[in-house]
Amino acid sequence: MNWREAWERKYRERHGKPEPEDWGTVAEDYSQWNKSIDYEYGKRAVEALQEVIKPDFEGLDIGAGPGTITIPLAKRMRMVTAIEPTQEMVWHLMRNVVGEGIGNIEVTNKSWQEVDDASIRKRFDIVACSHLLWQFEDIDTQLKRMESTARRYCCVVHPAGGRGMIIRSLWSEIMGKEYRGEIDPDLDDIVFAILRERGILVNVRVINYTDRRSVEQEERHIASLLGRWTEITPALGKTIREAVLKESRDGMYEGKSHAVVMWWKTPNMVPLL
Ligand SMILES: C[S@@+](CC[C@H](N)C(=O)[O-])C[C@H]1O[C@@H](n2cnc3c(N)ncnc32)[C@H](O)[C@@H]1O
Repeated sequence: MNWREAWERKYRERHGKPEPEDWGTVAEDYSQWNKSIDYEYGKRAVEALQEVIKPDFEGLDIGAGPGTITIPLAKRMRMVTAIEPTQEMVWHLMRNVVGEGIGNIEVTNKSWQEVDDASIRKRFDIVACSHLLWQFEDIDTQLKRMESTARRYCCVVHPAGGRGMIIRSLWSEIMGKEYRGEIDPDLDDIVFAILRERGILVNVRVINYTDRRSVEQEERHIASLLGRWTEITPALGKTIREAVLKESRDGMYEGKSHAVVMWWKTPNMVPLL
């Protein structure tokens, strides 16, 4: 099995459709989601890393968004650098950092590909990214670039275990076939296999977190995902609304979701004293 080709095929399947989100337009909802669950996703991810993280660590979070894992990481270590290309995300990140009363986060407003990795070689004790890798077609190159900037550990957090039931059943209804992860394939399995092929021993933990959004936010979220496959007509908009309302209480939708946290020692890891 050629895992790199498998990744590239999945990448092309996903990116052959209109872009899922313009990150700027979803920044506010993304930030709100984090706050409404009190950074539960990021906190659980950081808890899964507790055996490796040390208070004097310096970390790098690539594709930080509004601070989903950046903020929980910064609460557990000396310093975190966040790389985030979308201006609106950076704005929310800075606002959330102030809201959380922390001052140990530095932000670089660039894409990961624009970062000169040679200038930050082996600078960070841990280099992490969450819900990001599917932005990269050349997965192997980007994982190796991550590793080159890490002194000790690399970490990938990725949603896994499938989308919520509303999206799955609406997608099946629209497409007339069983849903098999087409909207947002898990992909953690391929990352695992690519790393294992290089002889890297990958630690994996499953985390559970709550998905909580207002009914309107959940409707927008579902419409933005299904909109890649079909036009969101007024009739479909109404169907989405009814499905969300059925699963909501007091104007809020709540569901359970899962993610995997993978971490590994970087090749030539600097030993801890
Ligand atoms: C799905 S969001 C994930 C945000 C956050 N890490 C989380 O787990 O919630 C993807 C983020 O990656 C950023 N992004 C997209 N392409 C990127 C790239 N080439 N380099 C770095 N970040 C990127 C987007 O702006 C967005 O904030």
